[in-house]
Amino acid sequence: MDLKIAVLPGDGIGPEISEQGVAVMNAVCEKFGHQVSYQYALCGADAIDKVGDPFPEETFKICMDADAVLFSAVGDPKFDNDPTAKVRPEQGLLAMRKKLGLFANIRPVETFDCLIHKSPLKDELVRGADFICIRELTGGMYFGEKYQDDEKAYDTNAYTRPEIERILKVAYEYAMRRRKHLTVVDKANVLASSRLWRQVAKEMASQYPEVETDYMFVDNAAMRMIQDPRFFDVMVTENTFGDILTDEGSCITGSMGLLPSASTGEHTPVFEPIHGSWPQAKGLNIANPLAQILSVAMLFEYFNLKEEGALIRKAVNASLDANVRTPEIQVEGGERYGTIEVGQWIVDYIKKA
Ligand code: IPM
Ligand code: MN
Repeated sequence: MDLKIAVLPGDGIGPEISEQGVAVMNAVCEKFGHQVSYQYALCGADAIDKVGDPFPEETFKICMDADAVLFSAVGDPKFDNDPTAKVRPEQGLLAMRKKLGLFANIRPVETFDCLIHKSPLKDELVRGADFICIRELTGGMYFGEKYQDDEKAYDTNAYTRPEIERILKVAYEYAMRRRKHLTVVDKANVLASSRLWRQVAKEMASQYPEVETDYMFVDNAAMRMIQDPRFFDVMVTENTFGDILTDEGSCITGSMGLLPSASTGEHTPVFEPIHGSWPQAKGLNIANPLAQILSVAMLFEYFNLKEEGALIRKAVNASLDANVRTPEIQVEGGERYGTIEVGQWIVDYIKKA
């Protein structure tokens, strides 16, 4: 297969993990005989510094022209600490999501047996937890009408029926391929937007009789994820709730550095870790490249290249079993491997496989 990849390394640890993702992608393509080419493009704070726009038109064109985008991270403290900043790196990520029509964000929450102890939750609760959060990504408060002055501010949480229908369809399709259990997470006891979600979901449920659909308020879902994470198979929710619940989900897995995601929709799909740019770690060679590398696995799987994805997952598991791990997941007294060394170990494993 010919693959044209847009690479957006972004800020902070972004370029370091991006490099490892690309190295793994190259190793897999070489092994399976795929032709891959890369177009690098600016985004985030890096793009603001260089061209004054966190998602420049040129980057948009490169993304539109590619088969997939390998995205890393954006964000820089110099903007976080300045509430008056007119442009912010995160606007680049949001612009990319909106312009590429990436309405479905797929965030798997899985556990690795050898990392169960890394979760702050009890071993017997998290072992075997395996669910997918489908987060709506181009609507809700993130993109609704906003207002801010010194005395008053608001964000509008607007959703239309077609926006809800298309994301529920994605969720039902995932549920059909998995354990056929869908949990629709909302706040229908308070929010009008949530009531429309629930109404549409109830209508759609009858089209998927094989799927058991249940409805859960978001506060309750946040609790249930900690109390009984194995309850969930596929969860679907609006943008803001999905943002919050997936950070919580990373505590089930044990480290933010382990969670990949795929964002799909109308145009080129984007594969990215769920974590941010961790600016404090920039250049220290300590960031975990696994979320980025697993995003590459999701990229291959998106194109139905299952063996390629499976080999990456096998290599990642082998690296963990061999204790080739970045500091935040290393066992006590174990050798500390850097971003580069973990990536290289996985590349070597793939080459030898
Ligand atoms: C995420 C991030 C982004 C979001 C930020 C960086 C804008 O937290 O992808 O979860 O809120 O969507
Ligand atoms: Mn988030």
